[in-house]
Amino acid sequence: MNLYKYVSESINDKLGFPANLETPRNRDFGDFATNAAMVMAKTAGKNPRELANEILPKLRELDFVADVSVAGPGFINIKLRDDFIWRAAAEPHNIQTDKPLVIDMDYGSYNVAKSLHIGHLRTSIVGDTLNRIAKYIGHKTISYNHMGDWGRSMGLVIAWIKRNHPDWPFFQPNFDPDADYSKYAMSAEELDTYYPAAAALAKSDDAFMEDARQITAELQRGHPGYNTLYNVFLPIATNSMMETVKKLNIMPFDRNLGERNAAKYIEPVEKMLREKNLLVKSDGAEVIIVKKDTDTAPMPPMMFYNSRGAVPYDATDIMALYYRKITDNPNKIIYLTDVRQKLHFEQLFRVAELTGLFPAADLEHIGYGTINGADGKPFKTRDGNAAGLNDIIEMITNAVQKRVSDSGKKLPPETVDEIALAALKFNDLMHDLRSDYVFEPESVTSFEGRTGPYILYTAVRLNSVLKRAGEFPAAPATDLTTDERNLLIETLDFERTVQSAFDNRATDMIANYAYDLCQLANAFYHNCPILRDDVDARTRARRLGITKIARDTLATAIDLMGLKIPNEM
Ligand code: ARG
Repeated sequence: MNLYKYVSESINDKLGFPANLETPRNRDFGDFATNAAMVMAKTAGKNPRELANEILPKLRELDFVADVSVAGPGFINIKLRDDFIWRAAAEPHNIQTDKPLVIDMDYGSYNVAKSLHIGHLRTSIVGDTLNRIAKYIGHKTISYNHMGDWGRSMGLVIAWIKRNHPDWPFFQPNFDPDADYSKYAMSAEELDTYYPAAAALAKSDDAFMEDARQITAELQRGHPGYNTLYNVFLPIATNSMMETVKKLNIMPFDRNLGERNAAKYIEPVEKMLREKNLLVKSDGAEVIIVKKDTDTAPMPPMMFYNSRGAVPYDATDIMALYYRKITDNPNKIIYLTDVRQKLHFEQLFRVAELTGLFPAADLEHIGYGTINGADGKPFKTRDGNAAGLNDIIEMITNAVQKRVSDSGKKLPPETVDEIALAALKFNDLMHDLRSDYVFEPESVTSFEGRTGPYILYTAVRLNSVLKRAGEFPAAPATDLTTDERNLLIETLDFERTVQSAFDNRATDMIANYAYDLCQLANAFYHNCPILRDDVDARTRARRLGITKIARDTLATAIDLMGLKIPNEM
């Protein structure tokens, strides 16, 4: 049950007035408080405290009310009945929407030949969690890894290979596309070095840059040698991409389709743009003007063809919109990228409207902040490079392993991996995704405080109580202790949290909820003995029931965050 919603709607019905319901941090005086009497008194010209006292008998009729009282200038405190809390908490969570949407979710969206780095952490982790939440609510989602597999970076990689192996067949005029070229495959590690080297060279060497540009355009136009070479390194790049993705335990993408797939729709899209007179010549390029008279900020045009006739990133996104329209026809498309792409998506959404492909209201860009180091600048490795995702995962895994060994424990390697992943992912999820945050590799692996390991540890603890207890009888829950009721009431806030996390696209709500739940679960565990010999059977059964409810809720939250609960910790 969504307790807040239930209580709030019941009060509103009873009073015939939309009251404002608050949940005080300190529940000594009530589980909820409303200022209804104060607001009603204003319009009725009455004394708020008097009005509050008049309302009390009405509120007492509600099925969840144990006690109501007036406080301060006219607040009404509401205390819930224990049996009501118990019954509500025992119901399984259900927040299936009655209006399921088809949602295309564009996240991850890695680049071929640029290995995954820290900049891909948030789009992967937050995107995956948002997707899991959307599915949990009952929406139909289609996840897209919109790969960067067709742009300038491909031209740079090919130019680099050409420079180092000018004698290779791909670059000869008499190239035979039907021969076997598998022996030219390079290792993923080697391939990884090409793009950075080529990009660095292109900065200082204009001729090389020019060659890369030319190659990009020719690759796109179907140059047989370049395309064959591209098909040699593409699977190497995507395989290593997918290996890293797998380590992150994010759900497999429904579609690993990116720029190259989109570019197949160039003809119909160009036709559509020409019919609507949207393509404008500009310095040898063709662009779409997206500026409106009402704009105050600069709004440059979107590039469709560049001056070499190659299709840039801008254009592939327009074609991807077309592809998604004719295949999924989604109610919504959500893009998750670094906030620095904000302008790009503003332009894109305007093109969507101009072409009539999608109303801008159905398109949404979530721009996330930067992950910084302790110095407040983007997190780098010691050698000054953007930290690779594999390196980060390894670093965190080593840190967890060290903590485990230091504490004298021995855990299987899978468990260490699960804890490390929780450390990394939870830390990412708990921060407001639109802001920057500071990444401190040492603190995220701590088993205490707001960390992934703490969350898992609590879940393992609850699981272990249930395992040791085995079967247990159902118990009527009257007279809950403070720790028991606080924990149960928190589980009744789960549905509201998930719904708001989705509505606000705020995955930190789930993470921080999980933390609060763990705090209460641990307080309950410490203050309420369960399996000890001196605990009577009735109390034990009740507490086991509570343990199970808390565990189930926590396990669902953990699952939504894409974490796994280890067997032991
Ligand atoms: N590959 C791009 C990058 O790494 C992100 C693509 C985001 N999705 C999109 N449809 N543009 O910057």
